[in-house]
Amino acid sequence: MQMQKTLDAIKSNSFSIDVFGLGYVGFPLAVRLASGGFKVKGIDNNPQRIQRLNNNDLMDTELHLKDEFIHCRQNKNLELATSPTKSNEPKIGIISVHTPIPEKNIPPNKFVKEAIENFLVTAKAGDMIILESSVGSGTTEEMQKIVESKGYKIGKDFGFCFCPERIDPQNKKWHLENIPRIIYCSDDTSYKIAENIYKKVNNAHLFRVDSPRIAEVVKSYENAFRLVNISLVNELAILCDKLGINVIDVIKAAATKPFGFMPFYPGAGVGGHCIPKDPRFLLDAAKKYDVKFSTIENALQVNFEIPKYICNSIEKTLEKNNLDKSVLVCGLTYKPDVEDMRDSPGFKLLNEFKKRNFKVSAYDPYFKKELLPKYLKENYLEDLEFEHISNLNDDSLANISCLCIVQHHTKTKFRLMEIYEKSIIPFIYDCQSQLEKKPETKTFLDSLGG
Ligand SMILES: NC(=O)c1ccc[n+]([C@@H]2O[C@H](COP(=O)([O-])OP(=O)(O)OC[C@H]3O[C@@H](n4cnc5c(N)ncnc54)[C@H](O)[C@@H]3O)[C@@H](O)[C@H]2O)c1
Repeated sequence: MQMQKTLDAIKSNSFSIDVFGLGYVGFPLAVRLASGGFKVKGIDNNPQRIQRLNNNDLMDTELHLKDEFIHCRQNKNLELATSPTKSNEPKIGIISVHTPIPEKNIPPNKFVKEAIENFLVTAKAGDMIILESSVGSGTTEEMQKIVESKGYKIGKDFGFCFCPERIDPQNKKWHLENIPRIIYCSDDTSYKIAENIYKKVNNAHLFRVDSPRIAEVVKSYENAFRLVNISLVNELAILCDKLGINVIDVIKAAATKPFGFMPFYPGAGVGGHCIPKDPRFLLDAAKKYDVKFSTIENALQVNFEIPKYICNSIEKTLEKNNLDKSVLVCGLTYKPDVEDMRDSPGFKLLNEFKKRNFKVSAYDPYFKKELLPKYLKENYLEDLEFEHISNLNDDSLANISCLCIVQHHTKTKFRLMEIYEKSIIPFIYDCQSQLEKKPETKTFLDSLGG
């Protein structure tokens, strides 16, 4: 009955949404819901983030939402705050805070739990929580218990859903508005409420699953699939190096098979906030039930080893050609054209080069000097020291023996090609095998699997 009243309130738009966590996932979601006509409060416990947004100071990857964001702020559909407030109307709390890697110092559910507890401070019967953060097996049930500990009955007078985000930043074809989502809902009315909300997000393209554990495992399995395939192609690339063939030629040819094959491409390793972490949720669950999940264990190990393989290859070439051990790592984000530097292969390479006494410098067009301590923390490399260069002009490249390209950003594409074609540096190592070989240049080009 209570949830039915909430559903009626949703249909007449007499309700509000609190989005917890205004990062890569929560910010576009809050803007989307607000521009869909809902009353949204974007809540982030980082006051600097709220201040930055209050000043309309958006990051590069948020800029495409600037007009919509400003419009929602002007028509008062989007408020910004560091904590929620009470409301007489039903409230939906959407949790999109980060979930750290298991095995590190911070428990993965810490921020999810804090956000849910914070929502419950101002919540009442008839309200609902939608968890969007990626979480390990059993978390949804654990969070439902927290709600029940406040006297609510899940599925009767309080709704709970888990609808993990699948966003792939900078993917031009698949984005927030058209990516289908899976969802677990505590009861049928909560599902109808969720459908009404996601109508404004992805046209309610939802696939409902019966249990929270299915939804949790689906999310981790999707990212384990990516991790395992990237590790597979990286090992294939190493073999291609030995066979003297190009791994890209192999992938292109294999991709002509119209079924049972999906191309993945080599690189210095997976990174970001999802692929290196979510598969570990499955590993954790396997450990709890005393079963092995060696595919994931092996894939993580391959991912861990790949920077060492790349450093070995570079070191050998430098020695063979009597070149100094000086390297410029180009690309510190975890993928091209994003600002996110969490758990990035570029930092692992820098660390590996440092251990081998290289003179190390780094460049990334998205690097912000003032954020260095944050980057180092996010890469678990607080003591790492390296020189950062602010552009790729000829002067900055003088005295560098090797340019190690980790990411091919659109912003650097032309310049990287120019550095190669004009032989500005003696040796380029391309971790993503994207530079096309040019016989006329004096620069020696090597690549992973090339
Ligand atoms: N980034 C992606 O591409 C992506 C894709 C799919 C899923 N996910 C998942 O979505 C979740 C969020 O990831 P993200 O990349 O957006 O993280 P993020 O670090 O960019 O943003 C998280 C935000 O939550 C805020 N926060 C932390 N605790 C809070 C609290 N108690 N109350 C309010 N705000 C709080 C932080 O200050 C931060 O601004 C993670 O579980 C992640 O695995 C991320």
